[in-house]
Order: sequence, then structure tokens, then C-alpha cells
Amino acid sequence: MTPMTGIRACVFDAYGTIFDLASATARCAAIPEDKRAALTALWRDKQLQYTWLRSLQGCHADFEQITADALDFALASLDLEGLDCRQQLLSLFLHVQAFPEVAETLRQLRAAGRVTAILSNGTPSMLEAAIQASGLQGLFDAVLSAEAVQVFKTHPRVYAYALQQLQLSAEQIVFQSANGWDAYAASAFGMRVVWCNRYGQRPERLPGAPDHEIASLAELPALLGI
Ligand code: LAC
Repeated sequence: MTPMTGIRACVFDAYGTIFDLASATARCAAIPEDKRAALTALWRDKQLQYTWLRSLQGCHADFEQITADALDFALASLDLEGLDCRQQLLSLFLHVQAFPEVAETLRQLRAAGRVTAILSNGTPSMLEAAIQASGLQGLFDAVLSAEAVQVFKTHPRVYAYALQQLQLSAEQIVFQSANGWDAYAASAFGMRVVWCNRYGQRPERLPGAPDHEIASLAELPALLGI
């Protein structure tokens, strides 16, 4: 494997890539165990759909609102509305845990002189809360939110915002996402992309072609020759 050269910044998607979404429902004891996986999946699917639908409609709402709306839909669909766990789940989402390899990987990248950043649909306050809750304070040079451009991924304006904020060209950035659709879109935009395919998803049939596929972010430094 030839290491990727010319990379100045490593930019990461947040939810699903840095932060483990299953950690929220797993910590809500009121949810019956046999419904946790379904709730996690439906909540997430609906959350993403709402980002895309609102972006298409030109009806922006921030990601915190969208997350709450998607949770309401998921709880109603799974007949879990009566459990009175809505506020707890929203709070757990705000305080999601990082995947175990994240902190060490960020330290290695920074020690090797790479700029580290998040580029996420999450609002600045959601991202700050998650960073604090998972002990990643001080490990990101920039935390960039789609809220600044009032539209969600996969709109090219979101990826362009990262270039503008980091003052780098697309070829100088490697973008990591565990979300296939996000990885393909960043690649179609022109960034170099490592798809952190944690969940063994099949390739997307969408524009773009991630440069590399890994199963955990621990594999990233070696791809950059670190
Ligand atoms: C994000 C979602 C898409 O963090 O995972 O942007």
C-alpha cells in the first residue's frame, strides 16, 4: 500500500464515525432490550431522511430539532411513546460516547503535524457536548458545523465550507466517514476520502469513489505513512 501524500488535514464526520450512536439507546434502561437495535436504526434513518428532505424543500431546521423529530417518529412507530424516555434519550444523544480507538488516533495524527477537524450536520453546541462527554477536548483543531451554511450533507456547500474554514484545497484534505453516502459525496466533491466502513456496508451506487476503505480509524495513520 502506497501512503497518501500531500495531506494537511484529516476531517471527520461525527455521528457514526467518531461517536457511537448505539451508546445512546444502550444506556436507556427503560427501552426493552429486544427493541433497542430497531429504535437505534429507525431513529437514525429518520434523522438522516429529515436532513435530506428539509434540504430539498429549503426548509432548514437545526440538527437538534431534527434529532428530536426523528426520535418522536421512531418512538411512535415502535409503540414506545408510553415509556417516558424521550428527554433521557435526547440527553444521551447529546452525550454520546466515542469509539474506543478515536482519541489515540487523533493524538497520533496531531503528533505527526496533521490538522484535525470535525465536519458534521450537528450544531456547534451538540458537537461540543459530545466532545466533552467523550473526553476528546483539545484533540480537534476545528469543529465545523453544517449549521453555518444552513443546509445538510450531501449538499456540496457543506464540504466547501470545510475548505474555506481550513484554507486548504480539496486534495489537501482527507475526509473520514462511516456513512457510505457521506464518503461518496465528499469524494464526488473532490476530497480524498477514507471510508471507515465500521458496519460492513455494501458499496453505494452514487457518484464518487472513496480512495480507501478501513474498518476502524486506528488504520488511518498508516494510510498516511505515519
Ligand atoms: C454527521 C452525521 C451525518 O455527523 O453523521 O454529520
